[in-house]
Amino acid sequence: MRKKVILITGANGEVGHGLIEQMHALEDKPNVVVLDIRGMDEEKSKLIDTCIVGDILDTDLLDNLMSEYEIDTIYHLAALLSTHSEFRPEAAHRVNVQGTVNLLQLAIEQARWRAKPVKFIFPSSIAVYGVPDLETKAILAPVTEDQYTMPTTMYGCNKLYCEHLGRYYTSHYRQLAVTPEPHGVDFRSVRFPGLISAITMPSGGTSDYAPEMLHAAAQGLPYTSFVRPDTTIPFMAMPDAIKALLMLADAPREKLTQAVYNVSSFSLSAAEVAELVQKSFPGTEITYEPSSGRQNIVDSWPADIDDSAARRDWNWSAEYDVNRAFNEYLIPMIRQHYQT
Ligand code: SER
Repeated sequence: MRKKVILITGANGEVGHGLIEQMHALEDKPNVVVLDIRGMDEEKSKLIDTCIVGDILDTDLLDNLMSEYEIDTIYHLAALLSTHSEFRPEAAHRVNVQGTVNLLQLAIEQARWRAKPVKFIFPSSIAVYGVPDLETKAILAPVTEDQYTMPTTMYGCNKLYCEHLGRYYTSHYRQLAVTPEPHGVDFRSVRFPGLISAITMPSGGTSDYAPEMLHAAAQGLPYTSFVRPDTTIPFMAMPDAIKALLMLADAPREKLTQAVYNVSSFSLSAAEVAELVQKSFPGTEITYEPSSGRQNIVDSWPADIDDSAARRDWNWSAEYDVNRAFNEYLIPMIRQHYQT
């Protein structure tokens, strides 16, 4: 008998770390297999069953997973983030798109073997949006899932396309087959705002100025922001991001009216992040030297997103508004983390 497991790709990233911790804390702990090209940090390895060091582009490796495990749910977190992707657009396309196709195929195969759908949980991003200019951004009401989806980054294009692939694999895959498939992929995606963790740093994103500012301040270091002080996007504290993934995975299928859901909690300008950071770490020197390329990317992301569909369909609500996020999570945890 194959062992029933949850598969997490890209598990050694910051979302993966949070997800593994939360799963480990569940009363009914699932068996967790992770696949990450970097392996797994030692401390987090203790919280999982198996770590496979490997590449989501390695189809032989994915075939081997097929024979060994019954995969119930896939959290497909592996991706190259937006800034990294601009430096290596074709590599980003391979990892972000072909990697996702490989995992979707794995899910289809698994579903056939077990005669039950495989849940496929996919983090998407505000990078799928492309607001044309700052004048439009300034007057825009919180954007819904279907508005302004004209991304200006390879990462944004990749995420948007993968959202469509997920919907296709769930509802239309092999639509011309003589005998339509009764079971398949159950794809569910959340579009995250910029995420901020007290424990880990993102790598290669364009919303990274906020977590970088906080982590620099907590270590007593100055920080130079690569965006202007007025730059505003939505953010979310990491525990809420993990909560969103788990809530969406648990939602009854019949309640879901769409494949992709915005989730949001609070919007802040870079200057407001700086102010909150300096309130807790007085004397931190924060300066601004906007880099035009990265500034343009963040300027193309909306200042706020509308998450009413997630609220309506699966009762989403963020636990951490800006005050709770900073006072009850980010500041106390980061102090503990750096022992300041
Ligand atoms: N935080 C991501 C990035 O900056 C956006 O999803 O790439």
